Amino acid sequence: MIKDEIDALRKELEYHNYKYYVENSPEISDFDFDALMRRLQDLEAAHPEFYDPNSPSVRVGSDLSNEFKTVEHRFPMRSLGNTYSLEELHEFIERIEREVGEATLVCELKFDGTAISLTYEHGCLLRAVTRGDGTHGDDVTANVRTIRTVPLQLQGDDWPDYFEIRGEILMPYASFDRLNAEREAAGDPLFANPRNAAAGTLKQQSSAVVAKRGLDCTLYQLAGENLPFETHRESLQKAREWGFKISDHTAVCHNNAEIDAFINHWDEARHALPFPTDGVVIKVDDFALRRRLGFTAKAPKWAVAYKFKAEQALTRINSIDYQVGRTGAVTPVANLDPVLLAGTTVRRATLHNAEQMALLDIRLHDMVYVEKGGEIIPKITEVELSERPADSKPLEYITRCPECGTPLVRYEGEAKHYCPNQSGCRPQILGRIIHFIRRKALDIDGLGEETVELLYENGLVKDIADLYDLRQEQLAPLPRLGEKSAENIIRSIEKSKKVPFRRVLFGLGIRFVGETTAKYLSDHFRSLDTLMKASREELCQADEVGEKIADAILEYFADENNLRIIAHLREAGLQFEAEERKQSSSAFEGLNFVISGKFANHSRDELKALIEAHGGKNLAAVSGNVDYLVAGDNMGPAKLKKAEKLNIRIISEDEFTRMLEEGISKAPATHSEKVAPEEVQLRENVPATRAGENSPQTSLF
Ligand code: IVH
Repeated sequence: MIKDEIDALRKELEYHNYKYYVENSPEISDFDFDALMRRLQDLEAAHPEFYDPNSPSVRVGSDLSNEFKTVEHRFPMRSLGNTYSLEELHEFIERIEREVGEATLVCELKFDGTAISLTYEHGCLLRAVTRGDGTHGDDVTANVRTIRTVPLQLQGDDWPDYFEIRGEILMPYASFDRLNAEREAAGDPLFANPRNAAAGTLKQQSSAVVAKRGLDCTLYQLAGENLPFETHRESLQKAREWGFKISDHTAVCHNNAEIDAFINHWDEARHALPFPTDGVVIKVDDFALRRRLGFTAKAPKWAVAYKFKAEQALTRINSIDYQVGRTGAVTPVANLDPVLLAGTTVRRATLHNAEQMALLDIRLHDMVYVEKGGEIIPKITEVELSERPADSKPLEYITRCPECGTPLVRYEGEAKHYCPNQSGCRPQILGRIIHFIRRKALDIDGLGEETVELLYENGLVKDIADLYDLRQEQLAPLPRLGEKSAENIIRSIEKSKKVPFRRVLFGLGIRFVGETTAKYLSDHFRSLDTLMKASREELCQADEVGEKIADAILEYFADENNLRIIAHLREAGLQFEAEERKQSSSAFEGLNFVISGKFANHSRDELKALIEAHGGKNLAAVSGNVDYLVAGDNMGPAKLKKAEKLNIRIISEDEFTRMLEEGISKAPATHSEKVAPEEVQLRENVPATRAGENSPQTSLF
């Protein structure tokens, strides 16, 4: 039987996967593993009737776009009380002993990733949900299935039929370094730390991307009703036997001295671990004692986190550079005596802005403490005043641009100084061109930072539009280029004329108009001409556009030089109009909609696009012509009242989606049966409980 072979292959692959990824002791070669996987994939492709979301073949992910439903946690995901002081930690433990007497404590590492709750039913992974706000999280199951250390089917047979297990999704340093190197090469913004990278990856739309990012998952806590365990250690030992990755770096402690020793050991030893940690969690082992201790409003009284202090190093400031970015913003950067900090040599640290420098009273040749916070570039936290040279003088912040000499300005509400000479200041000109050619903008390959500088030095480009006048014979003779590269560059510049409008808009580099805002603007205004004519008020109508962004757009289009560049780009033939929306069906033919409020799963413009794609029309205001009002959160009460009066059907986002999926025939309630807006919102958050069950929030063990 084919089904038997498929089942056997799935079991075998899952077993070898566990040996390789969880136990680090593979029993077969990669080659043999791949051969088994290929056989399984072939059989599954030939027999789609045997599809199973928990087959090991899903670990490669898919390019289908994920939707993250918000689901309710059956048991809330609480956080932990934390402290940086051993003294406070000792007090916490004394309080426990005062309440329940002597208790066995377990010390574990505090993993620095993003929390996850995995639900297993009949031994199979059913669902993976992020912590969210502790009561509701995002359903990220498709992405978590690609993480090799998450078992899809449990081993053994003594697992509870239904339980949750919680832990941390981590990005090991090796995966993090590789990811950031790739992003740097592609000109994408870097992740500041492995925690952000893990959380960002988990929210990726494509699970195929997640599969490639090398996430890991360590579990540290079970949750369920009437779980058959008396202690934490026993529960984790069982979880290990079922195939979960459980940390070995734990210790049983009975007093402060033993706890302190564990903390001191790992504060140092953690630097050699392949994944990030930020502290130690101390937990009562015995579940009966845990029940007696209970919870405060936010956290359990039977566990606490001790957080490691960020590592600091003391070094000297030799000089200060002032860097000018693409937008003209000036950032002071300190050049330091090289010093080792958290595994890397630090030579430079950011000083942020003039205010920050004054606050710290930074002076040349000061000895300063540097710290690696969440950011990529280390920062200076304090001056060691006892080492300050006697003749040191306060620093005066620069008043002119270090690149072009123009007097610097400060805009209201901004901490940074700016060089206002946008069209004449070298790093601003180069920065704008480099931004324009980025992959997410015009994606002009073959042109890197160095080549852009070369073109600028040779007087071939002064702004983004000049790129479109370049000719191969101008490029080929330049150093490091030659015929082949010149040809590639010209071809890729030519190709960029087809890049969709939203990316062209992003490429213009308007202040505060990032990739997402550019998309919203393109969806809303549909063409550059309409956008350029829009008033401040009209600009604010687009999704996610507020006054700050609206003003930046107005300012951009008020600048003569920008208008000249735009005219030049238009002449070159770039896309200044959004692509035609394809009509996917005529389900909404002849129907008029009004969209109002905020929605959980779509932006307003996305809903409008869906309506048009299905033949419907969007109207701006509620009137007798309107058939449906799609009501989101925070909708104005006047609009609602008017719609009720006119007997317009009022539907939620979910109902709208259902209408699309099921067709108009199942259109929901008319005015008389409809629900108040608060309820509309509630109904969008369908809880994750199984049908017919209520969700007990108390019995954790
Ligand atoms: S136990 C009731 N154990 O730290 C809370 N949490 O600040 C039970 N974390 O949200 C959590 N390592 O994401 C626990 N060994 C560990 C942990 C750990 C990291 C995270 C977890 C939690 C946060 C609390």
